[in-house]
Formats: sequence, C-alpha cells, structure tokens
Amino acid sequence: MIVDQKFFQHLQLLVIVLLLSWRDTFEHSTGMKDVIRCIEKEKEALLKFKDELIDEYSQLSSWGNEKYKKDCCKWSGVGCDNQTNHIVELDLVNMGLRGNISISLLEIQHLKYLDLGENDFNHSRIPQFIGSLGRLQHLDLSNSNFSGEIPHHLGNLSELNSLRLSSSADGSLTSTNLDWLSRLHSLKNLSMFSVNLTMATDWLQIITKLTQLQHLFLDSCNLPMVLPPSPFNASNSLSAFGLTGNEFSSSWIFPLVFNLSSSLTLLDLSSNKLQGEIPISLGNMSRLTSLYLYGNQFTGEVPCPALSSSLTDLDLSNNMFNGTIAQCIGSLSKLEYLYLVSNNFEGIITESHFSDLSQLQGLYLSSNSGISFNISLGWNPPFQLTGLYLTDCNIGPHFPTWLRTQTRLKYLDISNAEISDTFPDWFWELSPKLRSLNASNNNFQGVLPDLSSKFSNFDSIDLSFNHFNGSLPILPPNGFVVDLSSNEFSGSITNIYNETSCYWEYLDLSNNLLAGQLPDCFANLQNLVYLNLAHNNFSGKIPSLKVTLSLHLQNNSFTGEIPTSLRSCTSLTFIDLSQNKLTGNIPTWVGDTWTYLVFLSLRSNEFFGSIPSHLCHLANLQVLDLSLNKISGGIPKCLNNLTAMIQVDSEFDSAFILYYEGGFESAFVTWKGKEAEYINTLNLVKLIDLSSNNLIGDVPTEITSLVTLVGLNLSRNNLSGFLPPNIERLRSLDFLDFSRNHFSGGIPTGISQLDQLGVLDLSYNNLSGKIPQSIHLQTFNVFAFEGNPRLCGLPLTKACPKDEIAQVPKIGHNVDGMKNQEEDKLINDGFYISMAVGFVFGFWGVCGTFVLNHS
Ligand SMILES: *[C@@H]1O[C@H](CO)[C@@H](O)[C@H](O)[C@H]1NC(C)=O
Ligand SMILES: *[C@@H]1O[C@H](CO)[C@@H](O)[C@H](O)[C@H]1NC(C)=O
Ligand SMILES: *[C@@H]1O[C@H](CO)[C@@H](O)[C@H](O)[C@H]1NC(C)=O
Ligand SMILES: *[C@@H]1O[C@H](CO)[C@@H](O)[C@H](O)[C@H]1NC(C)=O
Ligand SMILES: *[C@@H]1O[C@H](CO)[C@@H](O)[C@H](O)[C@H]1NC(C)=O
Ligand SMILES: *[C@@H]1O[C@H](CO)[C@@H](O)[C@H](O)[C@H]1NC(C)=O
Ligand SMILES: *[C@@H]1O[C@H](CO)[C@@H](O)[C@H](O)[C@H]1NC(C)=O
Ligand SMILES: *[C@@H]1O[C@H](CO)[C@@H](O)[C@H](O)[C@H]1NC(C)=O
Ligand SMILES: *[C@@H]1O[C@H](CO)[C@@H](O)[C@H](O)[C@H]1NC(C)=O
Ligand SMILES: *[C@@H]1O[C@H](CO)[C@@H](O)[C@H](O)[C@H]1NC(C)=O
Ligand SMILES: *[C@@H]1O[C@H](CO)[C@@H](O)[C@H](O)[C@H]1NC(C)=O
Ligand SMILES: *[C@@H]1O[C@H](CO)[C@@H](O)[C@H](O)[C@H]1NC(C)=O
Repeated sequence: MIVDQKFFQHLQLLVIVLLLSWRDTFEHSTGMKDVIRCIEKEKEALLKFKDELIDEYSQLSSWGNEKYKKDCCKWSGVGCDNQTNHIVELDLVNMGLRGNISISLLEIQHLKYLDLGENDFNHSRIPQFIGSLGRLQHLDLSNSNFSGEIPHHLGNLSELNSLRLSSSADGSLTSTNLDWLSRLHSLKNLSMFSVNLTMATDWLQIITKLTQLQHLFLDSCNLPMVLPPSPFNASNSLSAFGLTGNEFSSSWIFPLVFNLSSSLTLLDLSSNKLQGEIPISLGNMSRLTSLYLYGNQFTGEVPCPALSSSLTDLDLSNNMFNGTIAQCIGSLSKLEYLYLVSNNFEGIITESHFSDLSQLQGLYLSSNSGISFNISLGWNPPFQLTGLYLTDCNIGPHFPTWLRTQTRLKYLDISNAEISDTFPDWFWELSPKLRSLNASNNNFQGVLPDLSSKFSNFDSIDLSFNHFNGSLPILPPNGFVVDLSSNEFSGSITNIYNETSCYWEYLDLSNNLLAGQLPDCFANLQNLVYLNLAHNNFSGKIPSLKVTLSLHLQNNSFTGEIPTSLRSCTSLTFIDLSQNKLTGNIPTWVGDTWTYLVFLSLRSNEFFGSIPSHLCHLANLQVLDLSLNKISGGIPKCLNNLTAMIQVDSEFDSAFILYYEGGFESAFVTWKGKEAEYINTLNLVKLIDLSSNNLIGDVPTEITSLVTLVGLNLSRNNLSGFLPPNIERLRSLDFLDFSRNHFSGGIPTGISQLDQLGVLDLSYNNLSGKIPQSIHLQTFNVFAFEGNPRLCGLPLTKACPKDEIAQVPKIGHNVDGMKNQEEDKLINDGFYISMAVGFVFGFWGVCGTFVLNHS
C-alpha cells in the first residue's frame, strides 16, 4: 500500500518534470512568444519587497529576475487582474517569512487582497503605509507577531471588506481607541484576536457605526464593560458575533446581545464570566444556528425556550449546570453537535431526549457523573453519530446495544461508564472507520478477537483497567496509542501485530499476567515513544528495543544485562528496570548517552560492580534508585554534577508530563519504607536511593551540594566514616536514612536545622556522643537512633554525662556551615505529644502528594 503511494508520487513528479521540460523545448523551438502579463514596475516592487524579507523556507523561490521567472503574475502568492494585468492579490499566508515589510509595496497600488498572516515579523509595528494601499478590500495581518499600537492609518482603507488582526498570544498588539475603524464603512468581516483593547472604551460605539458588518469577532481583547450607547443597535446584517475570552458578566452582555439584529446565526460568548441561568430571551434569536457558551459559570438546567429551534451546534461545556437535561432538547431537530461536557448535570437520559435529533453527528456528554442512561435494548436511534463521548456517565451495566446502529462512528469514548459486560463481537465489525476507542475503567470481561484487520484507520485504542482475559489479541499496526494495561491478559506474546511495519508510539501492556520472552517483533516497533510492560512476568533477555522517551519494564523477571540496543535511545528521559533479575555492571555508557534522563531505577536486581562516575553526567536526573543490588565500591564524589538536584525549578516539569493526553508517567519508589506509586509528581520528588548494596567508604561531602534533594537513602551498606558535617545544606530533605552502616563520630548538629525532615533513621551505626537537642529533632522516634551504643541524650533513655556536648566530626576540609548551636532546651511531656503529631504530619504531608497504588 505504502509502496504504491510512493510509487505514484514519483510517477507524478516524473510526469510533471517531463511536461515542464517539454514545454520549455516547445517554447524555444517554436519561438512562440509567451504572453507576459506582469507589469514591470510592479515586478520590481515585488522584488524589492522580497529583498527585505527573510525567506527561510524558500517559499518565494518562484520570485526572481531570471528569464523563466519573467511573469510575476505566475509567482507563488501573486494574483493579477485578467484585464488590466495589475497585481491585485498577494497571498503570503503561513510562509514562515521574517524580516521587514518594504515600503515598495506602495508601488502596487491596485492591490485588493493582502494576506501576510501566520508569518513572523519579530514584534515589529504594523507599517503605517499599509493604510495607503487605498484599494485594499481584504487585509490579514493575524498571528504574525506584530506588536505595538495599530496605526490609525488603516482607517484610510475605505474599501476594506475584511480585516483580521491579532497578536501572538501575549496581547502585545494594542489599540487605545477604535476611532479609526469607524471610517471603514464597507467593513463586513472584522476579527481581532488578543489585541489589547483595554483602553478602547469606544468599542461599542464604533460597532454601531459599522453598518455593513456581517462577521464580528473580538476574542480575548480585554474589552472593557462600558456603558453601551443608547440605543445600542448594530448592523442589520450581522450574522456572526464572537466575544470569546473577555471578562463579561451576564447582566452586562445579555441585554446588549438581545438588541443585536435578529439575523444573528452564530453567537460565541465562551470563556467569559457569565453566571446564573441562561436567559429565556435568548430564544428570541430565532435564526441562531450556533451557540457557544462553554467555559462560563452558568448554573441551573438548560432552559429549552432559550434555545432556538434552528440550532445545529450547541456548546454548553465546562459550566456549572446542575439540573437535569430537559427532554425538550430532543426536539431541536436541526442539532448536529451537542456538547454538554464537564458540568454537574444529573438525572436520567432516555430515548425521548433524542426523539427528533435525526441530524445529530456528535454527542459529547462526558464528565457529568450524575447522568445515567435508561435506554431499551432494541432502541433504534434517529441519528448516525461520528463522535460519541460518554466518559463518567453511567451507561451500564450492559453494553449499549444501540451502538449497533452507529456504523459511521469514528470516535467512541465510553470510559468509566460503569459497564460490566463483554465486548460484543459485532462491535468490531461495526465501523471500519473507527479511529479512536476508549473503553477503559469499566468492568469488561472476556477474550478479545484478532483485531489486526478491523480498523483501517485508527489512532488510539484504550481498553485499560478492565478484566479482559485470555491471550493478547493481535492488534492493528497502524494506530499510535495502544493501551491494554491493567487487565488480566495472560500467556506469552507470540505476536502482537502482523505486519512488517508498525506505527505505534505509545504501547502500554502493564499490569497483566503476561509471561514468556518478548518476541523479536518488538525490535520492529521503531516509532515507540512510550513503552510500558511493567508488572507482568516476562522473562528472558530484554530484546533489542527502540524507545524515544519512556521505558517501563519493572517488576518482571527479565534476565541478562541492560541491552546495548538502548544505547541508541539517546533521548530517553524515564527508565524503570526495577524488580527484575538483571545483572552485570551498570554500563558506563548510561551516563554518556542517556543525557536527558530524569528518572533511573535499577532497584532490586542483581547488578554488581561499582557505580560508574559517568552517571554524574546525567544533569537532568531527579531520581536515582540503585537500591537492592550487589553494587560495591564507593559513592562517586562527582554527585554534585547532578544539577537537577541542585536547581530549585527544573525546566523539565511540563515537557515531561503528559506526552499523550490521558497518558501519564508513574513509578514505584520505596518511600519511607513503603512502596508507593507516584504519578505526575516527578517534579516534586528528587531522590537518591543506594540502600541495600555493598557500598563502602564514606559519604562524599559533595552530596550536600544537592540542595533540592528530598530523599536520601544510604541504609544497609558498609559505609563508614563521619556523617557529612554540613548536612544542613540539604534543606529540602524530608527523608534521610543512614541506618545499618558503620558510621562513627557524632551526629552533626546541622541535622537539627533540616526542618522539612519527616523521617530520620540513623540506627545501627557506631555513632557516639550527644544527640543534638532541638525541638524538631526530639520529635523523632527512639528507633531513629537505637543500635548506636555510644549515643546518648533524648529521645534515647540513656542520659549523657553531665558535661558531654554533641561531638563534632573532625574533618579537615569543608567545615563551613558547621555551627555548634547547642541549646539546652527544657524537655517536658509536651515534646512527646508533638513528636507523634510531627511524625504523622511529616509522613502524610508528603505522601499526600503521592497517589498510592491500588487506592
Ligand atoms: C530590517 O530593518 C532593520 C532596521 O532598518 C535592519 O537593520 C535590518 O537589516 C532589516 N532586515 C532585513 C532582512 O532587511
Ligand atoms: C481570470 O482568469 C482565471 C484563469 O483563467 C480565472 O480562473 C478567473 O476567474 C479570471 N478572473 C476574472 C476576474 O475574470
Ligand atoms: C512569534 O514569536 C515567537 C517568539 O517571540 C515565536 O516563538 C513564534 O513562533 C512566533 N510566531 C509565529 C507565527 O511565527
Ligand atoms: C528581532 O528583533 C530583535 C530586537 O528587537 C533583534 O535583535 C533581532 O535581530 C530581530 N530579528 C530579526 C530576524 O530581524
Ligand atoms: C491616513 O490616516 C492618517 C491617520 O489616521 C492621516 O493622518 C492621514 O492623513 C491619512 N492619509 C491619507 C492619504 O488619507
Ligand atoms: C467573511 O467571513 C465569512 C466566514 O469566514 C466568509 O464566508 C465571507 O466570505 C467573508 N466575507 C468577506 C467579505 O470577506
Ligand atoms: C493592556 O493594556 C493595558 C493598558 O495599556 C495594560 O495595563 C495591560 O497590562 C495590558 N494587558 C495585557 C494583557 O497586556
Ligand atoms: C435596545 O434597543 C431598544 C430599541 O432600539 C432600546 O430602547 C434599548 O435601550 C436598547 N437596549 C440596550 C441595552 O441598548
Ligand atoms: C440605530 O438606531 C438609530 C436610532 O434609532 C438609527 O438612527 C440608526 O440608523 C440605527 N443603526 C442601525 C445600524 O440600524
Ligand atoms: C444549582 O446550583 C444553584 C447555585 O449554586 C443552586 O441554587 C441550586 O439549588 C442548584 N440546583 C440543583 C438542582 O441542585
Ligand atoms: C493479519 O493481517 C491480515 C490483513 O492485514 C488479516 O487478513 C489477518 O486476518 C491478520 N491476522 C492473522 C492472524 O494473520
Ligand atoms: C563534573 O562537572 C565539572 C564541571 O562542570 C566537570 O569538570 C567534571 O568533569 C564533571 N565530572 C564528572 C565526573 O562528570
């Protein structure tokens, strides 16, 4: 198929090339004079105009002085008048042009149509001279990074029919008044997007003067709610009116809108601050076909009288509607798209809600958890939907059998819809056009059939969080997102797709009962961005894999070494190989090639050898978990090169999370002794866990440079020497475990300054001297210090000899920040009470940001 397409493309190209060369030869040999329509003076002007532009993408390559480019009327984007040959049209939309707009444009005096939209004029001003192109009828300068005050000279363009202006989202294009607009008597279409009109208090007055207006859009313009001129009326011909993204209130905007001509067919007041119920009088706009009110704060039910029976598009999403959905909505017989997403609608949806909706194509009721469906099994709906979105509605417990009639479905979302059923076989034959299916978070059971040839054109299939069982189905190779996680699929995978190429970018088979070796076909998944096979029982070696961003293989039984194929995955940011039986040294190339890595967990495997200092090159790393292995040697001194653990705000946060809508990153770490899964909180947690290995030597003081570290666990090793003296630098630390090593010397007093610390464990070492006394430190349990026979002072019961002070580790260098802040505090029972409270808050304060697994 693909081969065929390519072949035809080549063929087309060949034919064009042949035709062109034939034409050239023909013209030359016959000496036939090509009719050049272009006017020389205008051509020169255009070339000057081009000269001052930066045409990075060679979009204007047909513009030139060369012989075969003689006719400027044939240049791309240029249009000439058939009779006079004057250039009348310049359409340069979205050509990636930059640079300056040359005044030579003025030579093209007959220009009627100028579109420079979607280019990048580097926040320069709109040139005033554009106002002198007196014949312009159409001017589009939108989304081209113009800034500053709009030149009032544009008001000279008295023949203008259509004007589009916008700044890039920053609202840096402004107009302090719109007086200049009032001179554009012929204006029919006016759109201004994110133009800062805060100061333009005359905007309503001006609108009343534009008597020819048909389409008026003033979106995100910070329009002031000024006293409307009395009477306020607008052009009789106004048919589309949009004021999205301003801050209007209901009481201000509705009286105004009701006074607009009854010819209005489109009204868009979305993303304002409209409140209360929708006023009934809205129903008087009898020609209204499109009504967009999403993103406001409307309450109540949908009052049917407020809805014109001509409506084809109705969007009331993202409001606070809290009543029932009235059945009368079923009489809006022209309705094609109905959006009621994300409200608090409640009540029961029945067949009569749809009685006359024969034109309905898109039904969006998602995120209204109070809605249930009560529809008979044999219902034959009057419509044919292409999109159906019912997330969070209660449509169960049975599969909605009426879908059987919907053979044009492209998008179906019945996730979290309380369905407890099997997936009917007819469903897979229903609509070959299906592009996206989301049936996740239900209670579907049963075995899935071979799906490889069921969809010709699918983007995503999400059946996660159900109870599908049996072996994994063969899946269509052409989609992007495949999520079958958290089901009960079992057996080994022999093949999951049956073509030679596969386009999947997101594959999640985690939390199933799958076992056996991964088949070789995984190596052919060349487009994978996200691969999650965690929490299965896969065994054998990890095959050759190519994954761009995120790899999760934890909690399986993989053996062997980290495959060298992963070495080419240089943009990986997230790798979790924990809880397998992997072995070997930690390869040094890990630090050299995975430079974008944010998360690395090799926890609970059989890795040995020492920690390569190359890991210190991972400047973006936020979680390093090597715990529960057989790693020996010392802790590298270069840990202070892990700069993400030093920076307060890692730049990574937003780029990393939610690569796919609905997808998320999650991982297990051992957090304060409990295994916790955290989701989307990587930006909060910075963690080093080297516990339960065979590490020796002392803790390099460099580790205290990692000032944004939240958790540090070095427990259960053979580490010795003194605790880092300037440990108070780790001021973000919430969890610190040095237990079960051979640390000696005193506890650095700085530890009492770690006021974020929720869990501290120094037990079973050779620490000695007095435990530093501070209110915070006393809140820790006695278990934090036990097993250090030479340690004394509270909370231990062993009292110190009267004159003993906390011992200061004697280290020649790096003693900055060492302060001997001994305070003899009054100890009373109150401390033991605050101890318990402090512990509980300390623990849950952080765990609250975690989403515990199986919650
Ligand atoms: C645009 O104009 C500025 C100032 O006149 C000049 O410095 C710059 O070189 C011009 N850019 C181009 C591409 O001609
Ligand atoms: C000019 O000629 C082109 C091509 O022959 C034609 O498509 C277009 O309609 C003509 N325009 C006018 C205004 O006659
Ligand atoms: C506008 O400028 C910004 C940078 O200032 C750039 O990121 C953006 O792509 C530009 N917009 C267009 C349409 O070129
Ligand atoms: C854009 O403007 C900035 C400053 O206003 C200037 O430094 C830069 O060179 C300009 N870029 C281009 C491509 O003209
Ligand atoms: C165009 O408009 C500006 C400002 O509105 C004015 O000063 C100028 O005289 C006008 N030019 C012409 C040619 O009408
Ligand atoms: C105005 O905009 C509408 C809708 O985009 C379009 O159909 C119509 O042709 C435009 N009218 C003018 C005069 O540009
Ligand atoms: C719009 O302009 C006003 C007045 O010049 C200014 O105070 C305001 O910050 C601007 N708004 C935006 C979003 O730039
Ligand atoms: C609406 O128009 C009527 C009649 O022209 C007028 O009396 C009334 O004041 C207008 N209302 C508003 C809010 O402009
Ligand atoms: C608006 O109303 C005024 C007074 O009734 C009238 O003179 C004017 O023509 C009306 N304008 C439009 C656009 O209908
Ligand atoms: C809907 O919300 C409004 C405002 O919060 C409240 O007054 C009304 O009682 C609610 N209606 C229902 C049916 O819950
Ligand atoms: C594999 O794909 C072909 C067509 O692409 C299909 O006919 C066949 O049923 C699929 N399944 C198996 C197991 O071969
Ligand atoms: C640590 O960073 C310093 C300075 O950027 C560099 O000179 C040194 O080679 C790095 N060390 C390691 C092991 O990456």
